[in-house]
Amino acid sequence: MDVALKIWRFDPETGERALKHYNVEAPEWACLLDVLDIVKDQVDGTLGFRKSCRMMICGSCGMRMDGRAILACKERMKPIVERGHVPVISAMGNMPVLKDLVVDMTPFWTKIRRMKPWLDTGYEEIPEREFRHTQEEMNPIHKESLCIMCGCCVSECNSMESDPEFFGPAALAKGFRFVGDPRERAQVERLESYNDEHGIWDCTRCYFCNERCPKGVDPRDAIAKLGAESIKEGIDRDLGAKHAKWFVHSAKTTGWLRETELVPKTQGVVSAIKQTKFAISLAKHGKVPPPVPPHVADRVQEARGLHELVHSQGRAGAAGIVQGEKALSRIEHPSDGDGA
Ligand code: SF4
Ligand code: SF4
Ligand code: FES
Repeated sequence: MDVALKIWRFDPETGERALKHYNVEAPEWACLLDVLDIVKDQVDGTLGFRKSCRMMICGSCGMRMDGRAILACKERMKPIVERGHVPVISAMGNMPVLKDLVVDMTPFWTKIRRMKPWLDTGYEEIPEREFRHTQEEMNPIHKESLCIMCGCCVSECNSMESDPEFFGPAALAKGFRFVGDPRERAQVERLESYNDEHGIWDCTRCYFCNERCPKGVDPRDAIAKLGAESIKEGIDRDLGAKHAKWFVHSAKTTGWLRETELVPKTQGVVSAIKQTKFAISLAKHGKVPPPVPPHVADRVQEARGLHELVHSQGRAGAAGIVQGEKALSRIEHPSDGDGA
């Protein structure tokens, strides 16, 4: 098939950036990575891109196609050619471009290292007895364990775009991979550290990382689980945590979000007083209901019933985070009842 594509080239020596058009002959089974190989072999040997496994395992070939982060070895070209579309290929976002489609992953790895991506089992010498765990015990971190560190989620992260210091979706998903591991013994220390400035509560919840992750890791869900575990452990110093707690309390007591109390409950009374003028202006325009008497939903019992149901199911912390199941692989084993 005839494949046409445009590639944003970047020459680090001249600082020149240019959109170049390529046309090559490729087999019908070709993925984007195959086409880039053909361009490099037959048209321009100076084209820069990363690759290794060619089978969605190594995480090397992250780049953007038409503005969305993808793995080049996962994108089949045939449907694109059949549509007559000419895709634009560019380097991933939120990381400095070194050459053409190659980005500097140093900030990415620095954040992964900050998460302490190794188990802290609480013992220094390996005990002689074997520790066995069931699949059920490992299932809570199944999706996070699928991460191949490609950086596609980081490329698309809105929060990181405005704050490059934000830990980011890949690092935080890695953090939950250890917080949720039944063998880990330093969960609270980890959660304390992940609650620091630029940490879990700085996520804007745009869900782009879930949308773009090529392995179904769903990093935003991992961040939600870290938040829920933090609150369960009483780590609620961040405004984000206080905000989340008030949402739950408000929904449980009235069936509504009591917006007039949101600021004092989240930011404190002093901060709320400073915003009195703004609050009066909102009230004049009918934007906030009067705080007294509290606005209680007609069928508030339903909200309370839901809250009690979740509690009765023991769904505190990460277990209470409902998430979609779109991981690329999922292993289910019935328990053999021998998990100790
Ligand atoms: S949901 Fe959060 S971590 Fe994910 S891309 Fe959006 S801001 Fe970044
Ligand atoms: S979470 Fe997904 S997108 Fe992000 S680095 Fe891991 S595999 Fe790549
Ligand atoms: S080449 Fe390894 S993930 Fe694409």
